[in-house]
Amino acid sequence: MAKPKTAYVCGDCGAEHSKWQGQCGECSEWNTLSRVNIGPIKESRSVGYAGGLAEVRRLSDVSPEERPRLATTLSEFDRVLGGGFVPGSAVLIGGDPGAGKSTLLLQVATQMAQREPALYVTGEESLHQLALRARRLELPMDALDVAAETRVESIADLIAQKSPKLVVIDSVQVMHTASSDSVPGSVSQVRETAAFFTRLAKQTDTVIVLVGHVTKEGNLAGPKVLEHMIDCSVMLDAPAGSRYRTLRGVKNRFGAVNELGVFAMSDRGMREVSNPSAIFLQRAETPSPGSVATVLWEGTRPLLVELQALVDAAQGGHPKRVAVGLDSQRLGMHLAVLHRHCGIALSDQDVFANLVGGVRTGETGADLASLMAVLSSFRNRILPQNLIVFGEIGLTGEIRPVPQGNERIAEAAKHGFRVAIAPKANVPKKLPVGMTVHGVTTLDGALDAAFSSND
Ligand code: TYD
Ligand code: MG
Repeated sequence: MAKPKTAYVCGDCGAEHSKWQGQCGECSEWNTLSRVNIGPIKESRSVGYAGGLAEVRRLSDVSPEERPRLATTLSEFDRVLGGGFVPGSAVLIGGDPGAGKSTLLLQVATQMAQREPALYVTGEESLHQLALRARRLELPMDALDVAAETRVESIADLIAQKSPKLVVIDSVQVMHTASSDSVPGSVSQVRETAAFFTRLAKQTDTVIVLVGHVTKEGNLAGPKVLEHMIDCSVMLDAPAGSRYRTLRGVKNRFGAVNELGVFAMSDRGMREVSNPSAIFLQRAETPSPGSVATVLWEGTRPLLVELQALVDAAQGGHPKRVAVGLDSQRLGMHLAVLHRHCGIALSDQDVFANLVGGVRTGETGADLASLMAVLSSFRNRILPQNLIVFGEIGLTGEIRPVPQGNERIAEAAKHGFRVAIAPKANVPKKLPVGMTVHGVTTLDGALDAAFSSND
């Protein structure tokens, strides 16, 4: 048998190196490399990806039928997965400790067990703690199989015995497999464990959900190395100080990743928030400069949020550009557009921008609102509370249309906004009653519409 090949993998960014070194060449973290077997693992040699012996078939002979999905019984969860679990898939659910991963999955597992056999394997809590939680949440306890186990091979035996349709592994960091001699939680163990369960899911046609904690840098431990082997990866975010939890797809082999699921953590577990459009929007009683509302489009739903910015004289040479919940690089780019096309220089100013409520977006519809908030703070000018702003900013200073303009304006009108500044191509033919929309094509024009009226 060939000698297993080894590599040195960074525990933070997942980069592979052929030699050990003190500092990771990719992310520059120190002491994060550990040795990992990357050679062919014994079982994977004889077993094909889809679980049988490798064979060649004509593509037309393979059934393209979509298998029916398994509903999670929570429609917000289903939405993020693209309509439920795909049989035989491995799903990674990541999040900070305390985000509510175990709670959410216990709810899902007990409910799904009412219809199909399900197994919940906990390596972190005792079975007693699990039962206490289930009872407190008043979940049906009669159908779910549970086991406290951390040995991967024993779990595989349990799965062979019970043939469940759903298996939850809580968490991948505490599991260990005999095929690696590293400690549980190390990159090597996490990687081998995830690879093992992903294969097993295919072979046994079982949905295997792996729970993974994120590190303080926000990476899933053994991060990128996990994401490429797993079928579907979702993140449960818990904004600081908020009872709301958002579930977002990071990777999905079977559907889109742009859907956002929203839950509220209550004393009775995770509750679905099926109409979340305005939950993150709580404006201050007295309006102040540096704040503007925008409407994002997350998957198939609108989300109203407040953008705040603070512009302050920079101390020292390098002005700061910090964006929370938004892309910092995009903000920097737009500040350059502001300078070049509108003649407004902020090169001696620190600029901070924040999407309030702990929401995160990569959506370009927030571009215009973030610059409006920045200018509102810089000029110390209050923007009206009933104003909503959205639109993408292009590098030539143009305002570009974004998807679902009509729906965004309609949603804003429903929540009491009366004035909108939006890309011209997004202005609906028929405006909602009581709504004025300024359709703009350039950043200059947009700033005029926002700041000239109440001079
Ligand atoms: P948990 O599911 O244990 O988080 P994770 O598995 O992601 O680490 O949830 C932990 C937090 O949720 C804990 O701080 C208490 C809170 N919680 C509630 O507020 N209500 C509840 O009904 C439950 C079960 C937990
Ligand atoms: Mg947990």
